[in-house]
Amino acid sequence: MSRKIFNPLLICFGAFAIGACSPETGVQSAPNTVVSGEANIGGAFTLTDHEGQIVTDQTYLGKPMLIYFGFAYCPDVCPTSLQKMGAALTLSKLDPDTFHSLLITVDPERDTPEQLALYVTANGFPKGLRGLTGTQDQIDAVKKAYIATGQKVEDPANPEGFTFDHTNFIYLMGADGKFVDIFSGLDTPQEIADRLKLYKKTGH
Ligand code: NI
Repeated sequence: MSRKIFNPLLICFGAFAIGACSPETGVQSAPNTVVSGEANIGGAFTLTDHEGQIVTDQTYLGKPMLIYFGFAYCPDVCPTSLQKMGAALTLSKLDPDTFHSLLITVDPERDTPEQLALYVTANGFPKGLRGLTGTQDQIDAVKKAYIATGQKVEDPANPEGFTFDHTNFIYLMGADGKFVDIFSGLDTPQEIADRLKLYKKTGH
């Protein structure tokens, strides 16, 4: 059932359908890379978690990971997706401690460890969610590795005058750190839960 081909249409449609925080530019910023065979998503990163600890991809080996790219000031897209992640884990009836749940910010300037520490405990978010931030270079590198986008765009409707346009995907990475599957705003919590159970049963 694993989607072996990373379909750029999924990215465009996903970014548009669920609305990255600015849907119109979300479509333009979607990557148009076609990867055949095993999707080449993920890789090494070095970031800082919401307790101020330096963490890397190696920190999280040994358990499968659910990863989301977003930011704490996002008005609705990020909270909806993080609640979906939490709901999927609950529906799966798997022990949430058997997964690492990570939020990687696309807004490192405002999303300090302290800010993320407050955010990750929000109602409905995955139990044990870790918030990760870093320097702009570190964030740019991890976005590139995951073919995720997140860029500051003008937004006159926002009191700050800007928001972040970003892709809206939940990545499932295996306990070995390798890519397993990706979920968009079109996937329901039950569909994600079923996929998590399948992964736990089969290891892929
Ligand atoms: Ni968002």
